[in-house]
Amino acid sequence: MKVGVLTGGGDCPGLNAVIRAVVRKGVQEYGYDFTGFRDGWRGPLEGDTVPLDIPAVRGILPRGGTVLGSSRTNPLKQRDGIRRIKDNLAALGVEALITIGGEDTLGVATRLADEYGVPCVGVPKTIDNDLSATDYTFGFDTAVGIATEAIDRLHTTAESHMRVLVVEVMGRHAGWIALHSGLAGGANVILIPEQRFDVEQVCSWVTSRFRASYAPIVVVAEGAMPRDGDMVLKDESLDSYGHVRLSGVGEWLAKQIEKRTGNEARTTVLGHVQRGGTPSAFDRWLATRFGLHAVDCVHDGDFGKMVALRGTDIVRVPIAEATARLKTVDPALYEEVGVFFG
Ligand code: F6P
Repeated sequence: MKVGVLTGGGDCPGLNAVIRAVVRKGVQEYGYDFTGFRDGWRGPLEGDTVPLDIPAVRGILPRGGTVLGSSRTNPLKQRDGIRRIKDNLAALGVEALITIGGEDTLGVATRLADEYGVPCVGVPKTIDNDLSATDYTFGFDTAVGIATEAIDRLHTTAESHMRVLVVEVMGRHAGWIALHSGLAGGANVILIPEQRFDVEQVCSWVTSRFRASYAPIVVVAEGAMPRDGDMVLKDESLDSYGHVRLSGVGEWLAKQIEKRTGNEARTTVLGHVQRGGTPSAFDRWLATRFGLHAVDCVHDGDFGKMVALRGTDIVRVPIAEATARLKTVDPALYEEVGVFFG
């Protein structure tokens, strides 16, 4: 049997670990052949492939990024997209497709499997950890580790100058990275997209921190918005998802803090550094287990399913379950960490 593999959407540490596990188990236990598709859905759309065998996956476990390349190409938005994919899979003799991706990539896989009979298995990935149906996605632990290390470093420079340091982390719709890294890094304020923030309240936390003779660290998710909506957007444009991109919340907030409290403030935007480099041990472990179970799904003919982490078990769920709604931070959990604010 020939199995296709693709990685779509934003890259994420651990993608190569999934690819390696899929190929190793698929070849060694089931005798499969593999075809790698280049750049997400663009590969099957255009019949653009890369060889994928045991030598091709040697040494890739600790490497960030994806050896298959990635893109945000959506075949459902292309003329004849579905037909072209089906024709290319048939011409290449590919009988099953393992799709590794986030909301968008898996959304396409759901429709291909459920409506057009393309045998797809899904593997969830995103550093944002906002996919439903799985307790964690790989990439998240690495991103939180990188952000936490940055916060640790910013504490010492903030203390030396008695300044406010605002750290902007990724998370357009969900504040998981902000919450986890902020808590782990001992931030004094954590702001997430799920709850609009009050600038005056942030300033009062900052002031009380200074009163205790410490320099405040404010962690803000890129998608966080002020309550009064008075944010002046420097750059409002559509990002590659077609969402409005609200850039600069960290910079904006630092200016507001300076203006309203009279304290000096600086901003660090961590950006794509959170997505790059070698995956943490946890992400390698999770990505590898996802890969092993995904190839088992193919072997069992269990298509339209996604592998997911529940507790310490890897389970199978309909792919649609993961994409139906985003997993956001529960208000009670956010309230729990509020004891550290100020
Ligand atoms: O979905 C993952 C993510 O890293 C988001 O947190 C971030 O907003 C987005 O991707 C950035 O995407 P791009 O690399 O396309 O700018």
